[in-house]
Amino acid sequence: MMISKINITNLKKSYGVGESKVEVLKGINLKIEEGETLALTGKSGSGKSTLLSLLAGLDTIDGGDIIIDSINISKMSEKDLSQFRAKNLGIIFQQFHLVSTLTALENILLPLELLKSSNAIEKAKNLLESVGLSHRSDHLPFELSGGECQRVAIARALAIRPSLILADEPSGNLDEETGAKVMDLLFKMVHETKTTLILVTHDHDLAKRCSRIVHLEHGSIT
Ligand SMILES: Nc1ncnc2c1ncn2[C@@H]1O[C@H](COP(=O)(O)OP(=O)(O)O)[C@@H](O)[C@H]1O
Ligand SMILES: [Mg+2]
Repeated sequence: MMISKINITNLKKSYGVGESKVEVLKGINLKIEEGETLALTGKSGSGKSTLLSLLAGLDTIDGGDIIIDSINISKMSEKDLSQFRAKNLGIIFQQFHLVSTLTALENILLPLELLKSSNAIEKAKNLLESVGLSHRSDHLPFELSGGECQRVAIARALAIRPSLILADEPSGNLDEETGAKVMDLLFKMVHETKTTLILVTHDHDLAKRCSRIVHLEHGSIT
């Protein structure tokens, strides 16, 4: 199984034009080693989600490069990017982003089926069990609590055995106790698989659980 290393050089991103132009990332340089767990902190609006979405290839880059495992994703076509994402990335969002018409099990199955993975159903069931939700297999997202939804989202992100996990404030929508449990689960699974993790959080205690903390301020890493 592959674990990602990342090299970001002089990465720039702005939104808007003319007077309303906002320079969000002003030339970010950041190297992340294989298996490293990196916390990305910074005030609201500092560009954390922007950086994560560029790493996920979900938004276009204005300048600079993002090299993931010697692949320059800034130069990839839309089609190649979505394939790269499906194969390599596990993405966890604050708002869970589960497919509302699919059950818990089906949500986890989806990325496996996209990759035509063998024994997909068995793998999805095992993952559901590992996040403690076997008994919620046939439930739709609206029938699940926030914490349960995020556990499904974690299982879905890990289903493809990603080489890189990107998590954007994964406990941000959960109460403190539930959030802590969900994060325990995420860290347990990350440590077991030794996958590289980039975790966006403004929670300093959570950030300290990562092997390194970087701070985003005024468009630069400090
Ligand atoms: N799609 C967009 N269009 C215009 N401005 C955006 C867009 N996405 C983010 N921004 C702006 O970029 C800045 C950084 O946003 P974001 O990356 O979401 O910050 P954070 O995740 O650190 O709170 C903010 O000023 C935000 O308003
Ligand atoms: Mg954000």
